[in-house]
Amino acid sequence: MIEVPVELGARRYAVSIGHGASRLLGGLLAPFAGRPTLLVTTRKVWSLHGHRLEAPLRGLGKPLHRAFVPDGEAAKTVATLEALWHALYDAALGRDGLVVAVGGGAASDVAGLAAATWNRGIDWVAIPTTLLSMVDSSVGGKCAINHPPSKNVIGAFHQPRAVVADPELLETLPPREHQSGAYEILKCALLADRDLFRVLAEAPPRLVGWDRIALENAIADAVRVKAAVVERDEREGDLRRVLNLGHTLGHALEAVTRFRRFTHGEAVGWGLIGAAWIAHRKGLLREKGFDAIARAVDALGPRPRVSDLDPARLLAATARDKKARAGKLTWVLPAAIGRVVLRQDVTAADVRAALKVMATRETRARS
Ligand SMILES: NC(=O)c1ccc[n+]([C@@H]2O[C@H](COP(=O)([O-])OP(=O)(O)OC[C@H]3O[C@@H](n4cnc5c(N)ncnc54)[C@H](O)[C@@H]3O)[C@@H](O)[C@H]2O)c1
Ligand SMILES: [Zn+2]
Repeated sequence: MIEVPVELGARRYAVSIGHGASRLLGGLLAPFAGRPTLLVTTRKVWSLHGHRLEAPLRGLGKPLHRAFVPDGEAAKTVATLEALWHALYDAALGRDGLVVAVGGGAASDVAGLAAATWNRGIDWVAIPTTLLSMVDSSVGGKCAINHPPSKNVIGAFHQPRAVVADPELLETLPPREHQSGAYEILKCALLADRDLFRVLAEAPPRLVGWDRIALENAIADAVRVKAAVVERDEREGDLRRVLNLGHTLGHALEAVTRFRRFTHGEAVGWGLIGAAWIAHRKGLLREKGFDAIARAVDALGPRPRVSDLDPARLLAATARDKKARAGKLTWVLPAAIGRVVLRQDVTAADVRAALKVMATRETRARS
């Protein structure tokens, strides 16, 4: 078992990572045993993995109640949050209550927000079941629901008390969702971990059949990178912005396709290539560096096309980010593998050039 601490003073917690960790839940979550507990999950995840989680969780929660939320992004609504408040009330959870979130990032975002708001904040723990949620949602305590068309605008910072990531739970995850999480790992490698980059560049497409130890280590390394950033900037000041590497273009791709074409990670994968090209164009990154990054993105597998998307609409979508921040849009650009810089001088021409280069890589990447 690998334990990665997230050092946040009084809000310190650990992410425990290991194959079979869910069989050890009783021990890993022992400090939280004996409390009234609300398990929040989805029917899909519970039908796949409830059989192995039920017994340890029953041993933990006294008593254990259960609430199902809708699958995927559909969970992140006021209606779900309200349903969870009703469930918390029905279960008579007081300030000593515990919320246990079992599912992907969508389920844990809304479960965490329910915990953040109930009685002005009760404890919660997360058992992420997607690769993306193991490496991303598990660190930083951001919990949110959507206010369409805006994502994640109603939320809170509420750190979990513990996270248990069991890669065995990923055995049922569709390959495309593996790939999606892999891009967030790649992002972490580009931020601060050259060794992780090297390992990931040689991983099999979509991580299918990847060595168990390699997967555990990659999850732990990505969590360490994110934890190091969050530890220095818990509430998203300037520093935490580096985590947006690949996300400026990624968010724009998701928005103009109404979140239907790309998984989040696929959009970030494209965004990493775009950011690398912009960095190269601005003389920050050598051509060799760009090639290495683009090849690593492509090696993880095919991604839906981008060449049919209107550059003007994509540019407008990146500009919306800018309005939201009421200032200049800050781009995170890779200056080398393992190092990024923040720049505010990215022009429309830079973005258009990046989109062109992305389109040329499409034949390699198209799914
Ligand atoms: N809080 C944060 O810091 C943070 C960070 C990153 C992403 N997010 C949020 O997380 C969400 C994306 O997370 P996600 O990629 O986990 O998506 P998700 O929660 O929508 O899950 C993706 C799909 O995988 C299914 N699934 C989950 N576990 C499975 C398993 N073990 N086997 C088979 N299928 C399984 C889900 O039912 C769903 O259909 C977004 O809403 C995003 O905003 C939050
Ligand atoms: Zn992301």
